Amino acid sequence: MKNEISIGLLGYGTVGEGVAKILHQHKQDLQHKLGAEATIKKVLIRNKHKERDTTLDPAIFTTDIEDILNDSSLDIIIEVMGGIEDARQAIEKALKAGKQVVTANKDVMAEFGDGLLKLADEQKCDLFYEASVAGGIPIIRTLEDGLASDRITSLMGIVNGTTNFILTKMKNENMTYEAALAEATRLGYAETDPSADVDGIDAARKMVILSSLAFSTVVHLEDVSVRSMKEIQDGDLEIAAKFGYTMKMVGSSKKNEDGIEVAVEPVFLADSHPLSAVNNEFNAVYIHGDAVGETMLYGPGAGSLPTATSVVSDVIAACRNLQLGVNGKRTHASQHERVIKPYSGCFAKYFYRLLVKDDVGVLSQLTAIYSNNGVSLQSVMQHPAKVDGKAEIILLTHQISRKQHLELLKNLEGTADVISHYRIEGEDKA
Ligand code: NAP
Ligand code: HSE
Repeated sequence: MKNEISIGLLGYGTVGEGVAKILHQHKQDLQHKLGAEATIKKVLIRNKHKERDTTLDPAIFTTDIEDILNDSSLDIIIEVMGGIEDARQAIEKALKAGKQVVTANKDVMAEFGDGLLKLADEQKCDLFYEASVAGGIPIIRTLEDGLASDRITSLMGIVNGTTNFILTKMKNENMTYEAALAEATRLGYAETDPSADVDGIDAARKMVILSSLAFSTVVHLEDVSVRSMKEIQDGDLEIAAKFGYTMKMVGSSKKNEDGIEVAVEPVFLADSHPLSAVNNEFNAVYIHGDAVGETMLYGPGAGSLPTATSVVSDVIAACRNLQLGVNGKRTHASQHERVIKPYSGCFAKYFYRLLVKDDVGVLSQLTAIYSNNGVSLQSVMQHPAKVDGKAEIILLTHQISRKQHLELLKNLEGTADVISHYRIEGEDKA
């Protein structure tokens, strides 16, 4: 048994600072849980001149990553520096040196997770990444352990705090998109380049990680069908509400015998679905399993201490394994080949908001296009607003395939301008 576990911390920003705070403030509890003292011995930063609010000895801060990666006395490396290539290389090097690694880096885990987890298996080292998805929610451990006995059939998640914050502020406080994004940035939820948040890439990376785990396969980023929240048009949130839906940026992942479908897009989510009540920067993941049925985890998806909670819990797991001498004893090999469903097998109801000439017979032309595509309509409504003599028509379909939907968009050209279109989710709960 070790009396002291030495940590090298790569990054002392929002998350790194939170990690140091928790290790300091919960020192005695952690010591009791681990039978050892977990101590940060070295910290990597980029800018030596930045003022830092810290209880750590300034002498342990370095700008030379090799100073940490080549230090044989360190047991655990925590990677919270962000970015892709430097972080990937650091994780790889640490594993090759036989260190246990904890990371919060969804970008690296979504793109290189499979290879890095295999490397960790080969090296008999732990590679934990709980904080990479949904900040403070223990979703990775839930999929790996809590629901290990079940067969997951679908996941739906609000896994990006920034977009959820923006949509909540736009709906409840009438804030503009720009003002809400600026506020999310000020509060530290948004990425350095917030296009990763608003364009759905951040959520897509998280869905890659969750889907690979839930379905024991390897899902790639290009397998995810992604739409930006910038496609949401003025008035869409109000129309959604009128029909009993809430506009949410949802990641969904579903599996059946034809394969897996993964998407991140703004959707009309039924008000009755538990995810529609998840507001502000909060995240939630709704899981459907064969045996468990429905279950949902809810909590803060970003922020210093919530994210650091997950990082430190990973540190505890790695320390416990160190004390027992069982690091890296768990295999990460996936069970199933990667099979992605064709668009013809991905079904949903759809919402369309169209602008047409306000002429006799236009409605029947429209409905003919839908029926020629084999699409059955659930409801058709003319919006009272008229723009330049044009009328707004709203149509909701029954279940159709994504392939039919894309064909419809093409076939509507010339007859209608498509103002917006969304999948309808959550009426059947999963
Ligand atoms: P951050 O505030 O930008 O902090 C990054 C830290 O790493 C800073 O201390 C920076 O040094 C240092 N750093 C970055 N690149 C470096 C380099 N090449 N060499 C040396 N030092 C370098 O980032 P963060 O928000 O803490 O995020 C860290 C990771 O956690 C990211 O992968 C992020 O996606 C993930 N994550 C963040 C959150 C969140 O709420 N923030 C939630 C979940 C996951 P300086 O201090 O000198 O600039
Ligand atoms: N930008 C991310 C979000 C941070 O808004 O969810 C947490 O991963």
